[in-house]
Amino acid sequence: MAWRRHLLVAIALLATLGLVVGKVRVREPLMRRVLYDEPNAHLKQLAKISDTEGSLARTFFSPAHRRAAQQLIRWMQDCGMETWADAVGNVHGRIRSARDGAQELLLGSHYDTVLDGGAYDGALGILVGLAAVKGMLLTELMQRDMLDRLQEQEGGEVVISASLASSLMKQGAVHLVAFADEEGVRFQSTFLGSRAVAGTLLRHDMLAAKDHSGATLEQVLREEGGLADPRVAVAAAALNPALIAEYVEVHIEQGPVLESKGLPLGVVVGIAGQTRLWVHVNGTQGHAGTVPMAGRRDALTAAAEIVLAIESMCNKTQLEGGVRQPQDDSLVCTVGELRVWPGASNVIPGYAGLSVDLRSKNNTQRHELVRNVSAAVKKVCKRRGVKCGVERKHDAESVMSDPGVIEGMSVAAAAAEPMLMAALTDSEAAGVLKGLRSLPKLVSGAGHDAMAIAETIPRMGMMFVRCRGGVSHSPLEHVEPVDVAASSAALSAYLWGRLVGGMLGSSAPDPRVRGEL
Ligand SMILES: *[C@@H]1O[C@H](CO)[C@@H](O)[C@H](O)[C@H]1NC(C)=O
Ligand SMILES: *[C@@H]1O[C@H](CO)[C@@H](O)[C@H](O)[C@H]1NC(C)=O
Ligand SMILES: *[C@@H]1O[C@H](CO)[C@@H](O)[C@H](O)[C@H]1NC(C)=O
Ligand SMILES: *[C@@H]1O[C@H](CO)[C@@H](O)[C@H](O)[C@H]1NC(C)=O
Ligand SMILES: [Zn+2]
Repeated sequence: MAWRRHLLVAIALLATLGLVVGKVRVREPLMRRVLYDEPNAHLKQLAKISDTEGSLARTFFSPAHRRAAQQLIRWMQDCGMETWADAVGNVHGRIRSARDGAQELLLGSHYDTVLDGGAYDGALGILVGLAAVKGMLLTELMQRDMLDRLQEQEGGEVVISASLASSLMKQGAVHLVAFADEEGVRFQSTFLGSRAVAGTLLRHDMLAAKDHSGATLEQVLREEGGLADPRVAVAAAALNPALIAEYVEVHIEQGPVLESKGLPLGVVVGIAGQTRLWVHVNGTQGHAGTVPMAGRRDALTAAAEIVLAIESMCNKTQLEGGVRQPQDDSLVCTVGELRVWPGASNVIPGYAGLSVDLRSKNNTQRHELVRNVSAAVKKVCKRRGVKCGVERKHDAESVMSDPGVIEGMSVAAAAAEPMLMAALTDSEAAGVLKGLRSLPKLVSGAGHDAMAIAETIPRMGMMFVRCRGGVSHSPLEHVEPVDVAASSAALSAYLWGRLVGGMLGSSAPDPRVRGEL
């Protein structure tokens, strides 16, 4: 039954947007302004708000970080939102629903950056979120034939008041959060902002985290944030999960898959779990000229064998007859750091330490791989007569996107086609439209705010946007303006289905029922 309803709403949405297009032909400038011009201009403008000259850096509570928060509040208010900043500097904007007791759809991403970062990581999700809210409202105004009247009243401008917006959103409220810190540059602890919203910041003991000057987050919130009692204020920043139907985040892919497929958007099916190990290899230090090869216990050559054994294990899980297995394609392992002691050309290394980063969407597989890595370390070390130890430094379980959100995003992307045609030139549209008919499903190898939110609001989903060369955390980070518009349109259609069409919190179709259709 749920699936049939879902289908009906999807068809209604397609029909609505189809109708809109007929009329929109004369209104292209407005749709283009909302979906293309504004989000791209906002991204450029936000990227200029930096603590460093000639590069982009915005870290927790820095002057640029505060200026960015002020700017985001102005943009949210222009969109008819009520706004506020919470205890840790997260910026919130909300439009209530006309219906009493309606749940909220939470949208978010982060406005902090790494040092020498790019203009899209985090910022894209916030500004596309804002564009999508406007796109949804515009679509509904057209659907109700209210746009002309509104434009006449305002002398050609369209000003949507909070009360008008609420009356359009009959089925749910929208709540956009710009998280103050995701990258963790200042306190070396990720998800500070989203953990405050999820209500898990205290549980993760993050108030005790220290910045490079030795100040704890608690002190910083008291001295720089002006909070009398940070513990109480942080607890009050948590949103009540019962009021939130789902969390949705748009983010740049930060990887090469979409670009290699020639597609603008993808839907995230899950965020990979992660384990970080540190492997100690203790050999016997000695003179490079006098100790014969046969008698050596070289820590570095043992470490080298371990590095290759780990790579070979991950290669194996991905290659079967040379073909990459789709179900395993999120399993990756990396040795990114190697420390050698004493590190001199004429000394046989006495110690080697190496980091191991293992990620998979399949937690069972990851835990199995950790056991296999430990066994391989033991085997190599035993054969070489060196002493080894494996230290487990960090573990995060994977989280899965909600099937209803995944399905809803796929339907919405296809439904966004007419809306996007109204906003783009033919040549711009040619590059993206085909890609919206069937969104590829991706696993996120990187952590995102959605991971922290999912601890208390499990119904979540993410949309990925193609970025040039898969490059991120770099000034070279780039998203084509037309892809920004495509994600804005797809999210508009998604919001329309949820907040106007009544799909908020809907479950996935039952695959057995789908089989019948
Ligand atoms: C892992 O696979 C790559 C090719 O994808 C290959 O070049 C490499 O040698 C393999 N590693 C090991 C240790 O076999
Ligand atoms: C997860 O990994 C385990 C162990 O490798 C495997 O048995 C299981 O089928 C995998 N589960 C999924 C859903 O792929
Ligand atoms: C772990 O080792 C076992 C035994 O060799 C193998 O069957 C399994 O596929 C390995 N799992 C992973 C994730 O490497
Ligand atoms: C290896 O050496 C390190 C540093 O010297 C030491 O902390 C560690 O306990 C040693 N581990 C083993 C297994 O001997
Ligand atoms: Zn990010």
